[in-house]
Amino acid sequence: MAITGSGSLCASLFLSLVSAAFLLKVQSQNLVTDNVSVVEGDVATISCRVKNNDDSVIQLLNPNRQTIYFKDLRPLKDSRFQLVNFSDNELRVSLSNVSLSDEGRYVCQLYTDPPQEAYADITVLVPPDNPIMKSREDIVSEGNETEITCIATGSKPASTIRWMKGDKELQGKSEVQHTYDRMFTVISRLMLTVTREDDGIPVVCIVDHPAVKDLQAQKFLEVQYKPEVKIVVEFPEGLTREGENLELTCQAKGKPQPQQINWVKVDDDVPSHAVITGTDLLIENLNKSYNGTYRCVASNSVGESYDDYILYVYDVLTTTSIPTTTTTTTTTTILEPAQDSASSTEPAAHDSRAGEGTSPSVDHAVIGGVVAVVVFAMLCLLIVLGRYFARHKGTYFTHEAKGADDAADADTAIINAEGGHNNSDEKKEYYI
Ligand SMILES: *[C@@H]1O[C@H](CO)[C@@H](O)[C@H](O)[C@H]1NC(C)=O
Ligand SMILES: *[C@@H]1O[C@H](CO)[C@@H](O)[C@H](O)[C@H]1NC(C)=O
Ligand SMILES: *[C@@H]1O[C@H](CO)[C@@H](O)[C@H](O)[C@H]1NC(C)=O
Ligand SMILES: *[C@@H]1O[C@H](CO)[C@@H](O)[C@H](O)[C@H]1NC(C)=O
Ligand SMILES: *[C@@H]1O[C@H](CO)[C@@H](O)[C@H](O)[C@H]1NC(C)=O
Ligand SMILES: *[C@@H]1O[C@H](CO)[C@@H](O)[C@H](O)[C@H]1NC(C)=O
Repeated sequence: MAITGSGSLCASLFLSLVSAAFLLKVQSQNLVTDNVSVVEGDVATISCRVKNNDDSVIQLLNPNRQTIYFKDLRPLKDSRFQLVNFSDNELRVSLSNVSLSDEGRYVCQLYTDPPQEAYADITVLVPPDNPIMKSREDIVSEGNETEITCIATGSKPASTIRWMKGDKELQGKSEVQHTYDRMFTVISRLMLTVTREDDGIPVVCIVDHPAVKDLQAQKFLEVQYKPEVKIVVEFPEGLTREGENLELTCQAKGKPQPQQINWVKVDDDVPSHAVITGTDLLIENLNKSYNGTYRCVASNSVGESYDDYILYVYDVLTTTSIPTTTTTTTTTTILEPAQDSASSTEPAAHDSRAGEGTSPSVDHAVIGGVVAVVVFAMLCLLIVLGRYFARHKGTYFTHEAKGADDAADADTAIINAEGGHNNSDEKKEYYI
């Protein structure tokens, strides 16, 4: 069994050696070529290469198996074929002004026995036309959805279409259509809900295709939106007081620019003598009966918006010494917290609070100074005392030893020294 096994092993080894040698021999005269991708109108180059050629004849055939080149001779009349290089190792031919009809399988042939062939597939790329972009509406209202389409016609292979809004990539829906002669048309649809920030932002349709670079179309979004309304108080700068004038301006910005700007008073009529000139509202000689909400309404084709101004008419600023003012001042103070959106707080009250604010800070400074002086004095006293005790060291120790010597215990020593105190805590205090 072992003999049979080794025998078959030997046989298979021999066979593989033979086949390897055979392969080596075939490969040693091996014919190679490459596939070619070429843009329509450009030049294609076909290269038939032979390794270790033993003077075998080489020729190039077209897809209909007509001979283009036999060695360095061109039997075919088509002068677009030109010899680029002819040697023992290579037959290189160029084909200029390539058209779609040139597509197909070209054959390199080597006259060995048996003959060898290698195939070069020529693929012709056709770039799409410039993309065409269309939007369903020229101008879109904010919040509305719009559709933008981009068409890339007549390419081979089909192009891919990408979308950008500003620097953000968006997802469109593409549809590929086959047209005549293996060509493709790609249509991409982009659905977009616009905001007022999109106004003036470019939307770009980018066409990717192997035959072209940087092919794109662009369109600027045009978005119309409701007015933005803001009331600005021109006069007065501070509180609105009885007898004074009030001047308000209404600022409204929209697309399209609002044609209509109206001043109204909510749940009431604007005072009869109020003057409205364009965007301005002027009320002279203010009166408490004018209190209320004044509204500026602006509208355009998209819609209308408004801003409110709440008017509170304060008392005339009179001299503070009159007794009745105390009552009115109280009224003003009560009303103040309710007045949120109106301009500012009573300057007098604000000033008085500021005055109160300064005195405590002065007090703090004085206290700080006094504390510093006291601390400094105590430090000096300590130093002086320290020197005094250092000088009277001997006396001090003698004084302590005297009680200790005479008495049998510490308590008695203290009694002896002080006369009367027998608490051990008080003894400690004495040492300190
Ligand atoms: C050439 O293209 C064909 C398909 O058209 C493919 O089957 C073949 O493998 C390609 N040859 C090379 C060398 O890439
Ligand atoms: C042709 O090819 C050979 C070998 O590849 C090279 O040495 C030679 O320069 C080429 N000639 C031309 C004209 O390209
Ligand atoms: C290229 O080929 C086309 C036809 O396929 C022809 O109309 C055109 O004149 C050619 N251009 C050149 C430069 O030969
Ligand atoms: C405010 O208007 C009332 C009538 O609405 C009037 O009686 C009063 O005198 C006016 N006050 C001032 C300061 O004009
Ligand atoms: C777009 O918005 C306007 C309001 O601004 C509305 O009247 C119109 O019907 C909307 N159009 C579409 C197509 O949704
Ligand atoms: C208007 O507001 C003032 C407070 O600023 C108040 O004293 C007065 O009674 C108010 N008048 C009316 C008619 O509401």
